[in-house]
Amino acid sequence: MTELKNDRFLRALQRQPVDRTPIWMMRQAGRYLPEYRATRKQAGSFLDLCKNAELACEVTMQPLRRYPMDAAILFSDILTVPDALGLGLYFEEGEGPKFRKTVRSEADLAALNSIKADDDLAYVMNAVRTIRAELNGEVPLIGFTGSPWTLATYMVEGGASKDFANVKGMAYDKPELMHGLLSLLADAVADYLAAQIRAGAQAIQIFDTWGGSLSAAGYKEFSLKYMQRIISRLQADSDTQNIPVIVFTKGGGQWLSAIAGCGAQAVGIDWTTDIGVARGQIGDSVCLQGNMDPSMLFASPTRIREEVAAILAGFGHGSGHVFNLGHGITPGVNPDHVTAFVDAVQELSPQYHQAD
Ligand code: CP3
Repeated sequence: MTELKNDRFLRALQRQPVDRTPIWMMRQAGRYLPEYRATRKQAGSFLDLCKNAELACEVTMQPLRRYPMDAAILFSDILTVPDALGLGLYFEEGEGPKFRKTVRSEADLAALNSIKADDDLAYVMNAVRTIRAELNGEVPLIGFTGSPWTLATYMVEGGASKDFANVKGMAYDKPELMHGLLSLLADAVADYLAAQIRAGAQAIQIFDTWGGSLSAAGYKEFSLKYMQRIISRLQADSDTQNIPVIVFTKGGGQWLSAIAGCGAQAVGIDWTTDIGVARGQIGDSVCLQGNMDPSMLFASPTRIREEVAAILAGFGHGSGHVFNLGHGITPGVNPDHVTAFVDAVQELSPQYHQAD
């Protein structure tokens, strides 16, 4: 394999010295970019885009042509796994993801397909291989998955949800059924991530977008435990054990010590957490990723730069920080504001790494 030319991101994940703070952006390929909208139109639908390795590669590369990001992220979706399990994923314009079937009973659970990622999600592995070849060692490639809990919210609700009535009802009332679904998902996700790593993913992020909707006890029981199980699987296999894992629980700021103990190299934090406080709590054991409010990108370039300065100062001197937003970038953002954001991190962060 080609040698990596920029390993700042991988070094920071291991808390090794770097010359400046690395940066990438959750959802860095997406609708805020006019070139993304053009390729998406060419593909026909979002799912066709995910399933076409050349076009998925093209949209992965688009943000890197505009901005000097320190990592690329596979263009795909977390809901590819429930789709392969047989639920029938589709997207209704303006309404977000939907499933034709849901999982609400033992019979629904038993009816799910048993899957092998290399076969049933071969299109994802093709995209990973195509992107790695195109990157040619410029920056590392991040593979990803949804957490079992986050995937389960979509599978039980049949799509996006505001109150999680069905999935939380199941967790609190029928914990055995819930644990059956989460165990199945943890196995499927561990196999999916191992396949992404064999295909070329150099770091992994687990998106636990809805873990923060649970109670403190519920989070440990239904979300964290299964992410921990996935990470132990990856660590037990020589093919996958050296690949760093980032766990991002949106709304997880109150549970940082527990999250830092799950085996991940890095913990993603959203913008409601003070990064300096987080570093004081868990910065000795893990790297921190984050955490500018994505809505700050609607403010002026001057205000964006001030916020970047404040976050860098909040983390302080030394390695172990990957700059990012506190959640995915919003579609309406002006791409020039992203330039201001990335430039500010590049220009203002070297002072925190001197004599490191
Ligand atoms: O970060 C990246 O650039 C990689 C691509 C990526 C996408 N989805 C592309 C996408 C990643 C990492 C995801 C993860 C994802 N998908 C999550 C977890 C991340 C998070 O934001 O918390 C979730 C919850 C999903 C499920 C999903 N897929 C939603 C809620 C949506 C948005 C629906 C809508 O219409 O707003 C999608 C579709 C989706 N996934 C788009 C993109 C670029 C937009 C599709 C389009 O219309 O072009």
